[in-house]
Amino acid sequence: MRFYVTTPIYYVNDKPHLGHAYTTIAADILARHHRQRGEETFFLTGVDEHATKVWRVAESQGLGAQEYVDQISDAWRSLPPRLNAETDFFIRTSDEGHKAFVREFLQRIYDNGDVYEDVYAGLYCVGCEAFKTEDELVDGKCPLHSTEPEWIEEKNYFFRLSAYQDKLLELYAERPDFVQPPFRFNEVKSFVSGGLRDFSISRAGQPWGIPLPWDEGQVAYVWADALVNYLSALTFARPGEDLREAFWPEVRHLMAQDILRFHCIYWPAMLLSAGYSVPKQIFIHGYLLLDDLKISKSLGNAVDPLELIDTYGADALRFWCARAVSFGQDGSASVSGIADRYERELGNDLGNLLSRTTAMIARYRDGAIPGGPAAGSELEGLIADVHTNVLRDLDGFDITGAVDRIWTLVRHLNRYVTEQAPWTLAKDESKAAELDQVLYDLADGLRVSAIALWAYLPETAPKILEALGQPVAFDWELVEYGRLEPTTSVAAAPPLFPRFEVSAA
Ligand code: MSP
Repeated sequence: MRFYVTTPIYYVNDKPHLGHAYTTIAADILARHHRQRGEETFFLTGVDEHATKVWRVAESQGLGAQEYVDQISDAWRSLPPRLNAETDFFIRTSDEGHKAFVREFLQRIYDNGDVYEDVYAGLYCVGCEAFKTEDELVDGKCPLHSTEPEWIEEKNYFFRLSAYQDKLLELYAERPDFVQPPFRFNEVKSFVSGGLRDFSISRAGQPWGIPLPWDEGQVAYVWADALVNYLSALTFARPGEDLREAFWPEVRHLMAQDILRFHCIYWPAMLLSAGYSVPKQIFIHGYLLLDDLKISKSLGNAVDPLELIDTYGADALRFWCARAVSFGQDGSASVSGIADRYERELGNDLGNLLSRTTAMIARYRDGAIPGGPAAGSELEGLIADVHTNVLRDLDGFDITGAVDRIWTLVRHLNRYVTEQAPWTLAKDESKAAELDQVLYDLADGLRVSAIALWAYLPETAPKILEALGQPVAFDWELVEYGRLEPTTSVAAAPPLFPRFEVSAA
């Protein structure tokens, strides 16, 4: 089995904000999970550099476009590692491998007769990097960016999207899970059923971009260049290797609804025209809204994810992103929720549980995990549920549902300590076997929780296993009751998520 997941390639007209971190974190959770299942996984992210807005920012800073993107791309390249996201490749659309591939890709569409020349006269929103029709505007402004689009009139090359309407509708009918969640798929279907307009795939008035192979005087329209990254990366990510055959049939694109039409309509049509198969699945998650406003630079409520990481750590940010809003839905979150989850859930539910368990094993059993598995317990049932159903949840991109399920196990362990009161059992020699069982179950429950949470908490999970004297391995088959390795080295573990004072300011 193979799994290929992508994030959008982000525009580099500014620094990353929390909304970008959100998609990258979600993609990493999925990629790590599939790696745990022993699948060969490829995780792609990167940056979209040939946008008009990028070019304009460079100009406003008195820099050449290439010079500007070379500088700012470093800030973007360092984002995934700061988020503990383990990507397989970071693509830049100014990479030579990408540029050459785009030219070849567009030439195929051209040779196929799907490109014609016409005059484009209409409106362009630089924020969206998209041509707009009057009926998409509200009071003459782009509703997403609250700006008036610009009038453009130039000779362009057009892609015959209209010729693909029936093929797209057939594809949607044949592949009921092509776009997820279903309410988003319905949006796509009704849009396509309403008729498709051809779109311009070139820009004549802009010097920044990839020159068209058949007319070097024009550059590829940024979307006709950017979408192709998902395929081009596979041809040059590993020098000397072509990963297309292995990974292209397995690709899943992840993004928010702002760019759904490009991915669910333009992109499959372009692929069909160029002779490639369409993506396996496209998952549209919601916007992370802070106080009901979409996080974005233009609205002035962008939150710097690096600042949150400096305060709470990447794992806490990842955990909050997965839990704050049900993945796939729009949802309002407050950044103060991170502090709350850090303290209540990560600090108390998980961190304290580990500290207490290890301290008791050290104190009552000299650091040796006693006892062995006892069949038929509630714990065994909960672990079996995690083993089977987290897979099902994550196959359906339900990142929030899967972590809820794992947290049910963590909460159960907390209740179990309180109910069993091992500190009382320890006072009564005749209860030694019971105490052994409680300590074994707590340690095993924590071991399983750590493995299941690794995709969400990649920095914390190994610490839990180490504290329990367990091998640091995350294969999904280890999510099973009764697989604790014998050890005699358990010592009271320091807090996983130390408390700190959050200033009121
Ligand atoms: N460059 C294009 C994508 C080209 S892909 C071939 C682009 N870039 S972007 O920088 O604007 O990124 C948009 C994406 O960032 C969204 O689709 C989503 O993945 C992520 N998000 C940006 N703000 C977000 C939120 N407030 N909430 C959730 N995701 C957010 O569009």
